[in-house]
Amino acid sequence: MIQHLIVIFLVDGYGSTLLNNSKPDSTFGVRHLATNGVQVDYVTPSFPTHTWPQWMSLATGLYTENHGFTADYMWDSQTNKSFERGSGPDDQDDVWWKDARAPFWYTAGKAGVDVHCYWFAHCHRTFYDMVVQVPPNRWANLDDEHQTDNFREIFPEIINKIKKYQGYKRQMFLIRYANIGVAQRKYAPGSDEIESAVSLFDLYINELQQQLEDNDLFSSTNLVVMSDHGYTPLKKDDEFVMEICLPDFAIVKKVVNSHSMAMVYTDNEDATTAHYEFSVCESWSPMGDYDSDDSPFVKTHSVAEIPDDLHWKHSAHMSGVVLMTKPGTILVTKELPSVPSAAKQLVEQKQASGWDPSVEDMKAIFVARGPAFRQNERFGPIETVDVYQMILNILSLEASHPHNGTWANIENMLTEGWEDRQKTEKSANSFSSFSILFFYIPVLLLSLYSYLV
Ligand SMILES: *[C@@H]1O[C@H](CO)[C@@H](O)[C@H](O)[C@H]1NC(C)=O
Ligand SMILES: *[C@@H]1O[C@H](CO)[C@@H](O)[C@H](O)[C@H]1NC(C)=O
Ligand SMILES: *[C@@H]1O[C@H](CO)[C@@H](O)[C@H](O)[C@H]1NC(C)=O
Repeated sequence: MIQHLIVIFLVDGYGSTLLNNSKPDSTFGVRHLATNGVQVDYVTPSFPTHTWPQWMSLATGLYTENHGFTADYMWDSQTNKSFERGSGPDDQDDVWWKDARAPFWYTAGKAGVDVHCYWFAHCHRTFYDMVVQVPPNRWANLDDEHQTDNFREIFPEIINKIKKYQGYKRQMFLIRYANIGVAQRKYAPGSDEIESAVSLFDLYINELQQQLEDNDLFSSTNLVVMSDHGYTPLKKDDEFVMEICLPDFAIVKKVVNSHSMAMVYTDNEDATTAHYEFSVCESWSPMGDYDSDDSPFVKTHSVAEIPDDLHWKHSAHMSGVVLMTKPGTILVTKELPSVPSAAKQLVEQKQASGWDPSVEDMKAIFVARGPAFRQNERFGPIETVDVYQMILNILSLEASHPHNGTWANIENMLTEGWEDRQKTEKSANSFSSFSILFFYIPVLLLSLYSYLV
């Protein structure tokens, strides 16, 4: 009997506006996918529209305040440790991971699904008692722009694994592609460089579909192409340096993140002062120009003032004061202690993300085809947190924890009777896997103990 499997391409920065604005020639592969499957108008990411919060929302079905990864950069005031997009020296520390919920690759792996990760969302990290075996050159590394350059070279391996195991094992392929995001950070919207980055990815997606079609593998394979968030251009004229508003720099212990949002840490007794100084700061409040919208470029919030609908205010590692900006605003610090460092914040960048998920440019994409999906149908918007339950459902798995996805948002994308299939199709999988390593911790401790005595 054929086992259903899923291949997910998570494409950094491929926003819905970018897809909509790209030339038809550059989106042929994505449209071919949509014609043979489903597409949504757009995907609303979690706040902030940084990479890490989306990775965790996708893998757990939870909003940021429930999955604990507050932003791409975090700081822990107790230990003075920083989290730097997965690449910092302290990023593996338990301080960030202690309350983490099971990511979908863990739930799948535990249920006997073969999980294969390629540069994907920290899939290599040990979770509780299991680790997906990922060679180090395939660990996600956001600092390496060229990490996914040889994307196409993994296709033969994928095709072979599908052919070989589809008869008796469920499989999950998790693959990240970085180059569309890289191009957008370096170049302005509409540039040839971005068009060719989109076009190259499209060629790959078309090629993979061709190979799957030629080998008749779409009867088992569900192929998903989705993104974390989009980008919006940074406006050179709207650049603000935080120090300009502060008579006394010493009250700020740490500034974490930049541009769209900055978490400002102070001692408790200084929070009111910092909140006041930033709120009344004239340099970022428009004055006397009654024609334009008069909301400030930079808005100051105490935690209590953060809007509830961002599902963010109760996040772990939250500062007392938070600055949020208008889309495209450049907000940086030059001298305050910060994560990332001031030098990194000032690196020339053309586009950024992080703004409110309701901002059009932040919206992501979702397109999919395969036996689980209807054909040639378009659906209304979904949220990143909705995708988790769908992926698990396709692999006949239950969510491992209560989550924030809404089943009604995605249920109509699945083929008629897809859900009933779960009840009839008994998977004969045994509890084993060659790509996954289980740690039997109690056993390990016991043998260590007997060794010591
Ligand atoms: C992209 O186009 C689709 C179809 O016209 C539309 O529904 C969607 O809202 C657009 N995306 C954005 C972010 O505007
Ligand atoms: C906190 O860590 C930073 C960077 O590692 C270091 O420069 C600073 O001295 C530390 N501060 C305290 C109070 O430990
Ligand atoms: C998201 O899910 C968590 C876990 O079930 C729950 O505690 C939280 O209230 C949910 N958030 C929303 C906005 O529904």
